[in-house]
Amino acid sequence: MADSVGRPNHVKTAASSPEPSPHTRKVWDFGVRGFHWLLVVAVVTAGLTGFFGARNALDIHLIAGTAIAALVGFRVVWGVLGGGFARFSSFLFAPATIIAYARGLLRGTTRRYLGHNPLGGLMVFALLAVLTLIVVSGVIALGGQDKQGPLAFVTPFAVGWFVRGVHKLLALMLVGMVAAHLAGVLYESRHENENLTAAMLTGRKRDEPGVAAQTGQGSWRLASILLLLGGVGITAGTIGLTARPALGVPTGPLDGAYARECGACHMVYHPSLMPASSWQAILADLGHHFGEDASLDPAITEQLRTYLTANAAERWDTLPAVKFRQSIDPKDSVRIDATGFWRRIHHNIPDATFTNRLVGGRGNCSACHSDAAAARFAPQNIEIPEELQ
Ligand code: HEC
Ligand code: HEC
Repeated sequence: MADSVGRPNHVKTAASSPEPSPHTRKVWDFGVRGFHWLLVVAVVTAGLTGFFGARNALDIHLIAGTAIAALVGFRVVWGVLGGGFARFSSFLFAPATIIAYARGLLRGTTRRYLGHNPLGGLMVFALLAVLTLIVVSGVIALGGQDKQGPLAFVTPFAVGWFVRGVHKLLALMLVGMVAAHLAGVLYESRHENENLTAAMLTGRKRDEPGVAAQTGQGSWRLASILLLLGGVGITAGTIGLTARPALGVPTGPLDGAYARECGACHMVYHPSLMPASSWQAILADLGHHFGEDASLDPAITEQLRTYLTANAAERWDTLPAVKFRQSIDPKDSVRIDATGFWRRIHHNIPDATFTNRLVGGRGNCSACHSDAAAARFAPQNIEIPEELQ
């Protein structure tokens, strides 16, 4: 076979090579190179928006995450059906070979591989595995915490919140792995006197006698069909699942009497934003309601009590319902903006922003959250009024 280990110098490549001295050979096909650099862009974007972005950068984060999922899916198909050095089997080494290579690394006596070396190959598999876990944990976190995406219909908030932690941990792990990958590239580039970054751009590497090179025969047609069918199937499934009602999220209009009576002076606070005990405390003292007299006819008060109790935070599984309920300030249990969670997520916003007439106070949630009335508070719907920014 032409592609066996120890392939001698090739006359054909000498003619096409601009450099006269070493002969080069096409190692990384277009699929591998495209995958690699698009993945770099997607991972950097996802990492920056995830670690440093404001909550309303979530959309960009999700686009980057979707791109990562698609790229990993492509790479898996390409790894099984692609040809040459793209094929997984071309860099799937026995544990003993990997250990021997790692030992050689310590002594500086590693041999050259045209494709991935045994440790580099292991890193590719590890990166693909961790990226898959990051995508899966991201979708679970999105479903449970933000009640968005294909898993929102089955994922409880608590699960999403926990998995969000796992997602972060995996992302940190990925940062470490990327660092190790770069160190490996740097080492091999120096040790083998070959610019591996350039090779991933041009696809070509120096060919020489005795270099280890195992490749496979590709099946492009089958790969394309699988990618197309898989892409369409997964997209359709995702859209179908995303359309299902999210678990524990209030829908439907607010009670008419409640909206009328309690929306006269300020925005109508959705019942899911506070626990029943807080609503009861408010209704018990409407005569002294934050310095105002908001008293109502006892029959209406009773009607509101029934409504608010039946639809209070305990009933719902959204981030505001769970987090505000869990962090009620015992000294000021009737204010949403006194809860520990509210204070924490808004602590970067200066006081002057809230007191500005465009906002009209901390309690005027809808000035910055366009979906506040429905108690969604989705990251994508946060916007501080423009003139203020
Ligand atoms: C007469 C006017 C008026 C009416 C009617 C009224 N409120 Fe209020 N409410 C206020 C004022 C004033 C505040 C304090 C606003 C502030 O300090 O930012 C307030 C604050 C609140 C808050 C705290 C919001 C936060 O910042 O966390 C809640 C909850 C609330 N009201 C619920 C109700 C409910 C329930 C009703 C109906 C039973 C109601 N209000 C009717 C005037 C009113
Ligand atoms: C001056 C604008 C402003 C007002 C008023 C405001 N918020 Fe926010 N809120 C923000 C911003 C900005 C963020 C995102 C902070 C970040 O990026 O970490 C946020 C985040 C949140 C989040 C978290 C969303 C998520 O998924 O991360 C919730 C819940 C929330 N606010 C609830 C409220 C409630 C309830 C009120 C009213 C009592 C309120 N906010 C009033 C600006 C505001």
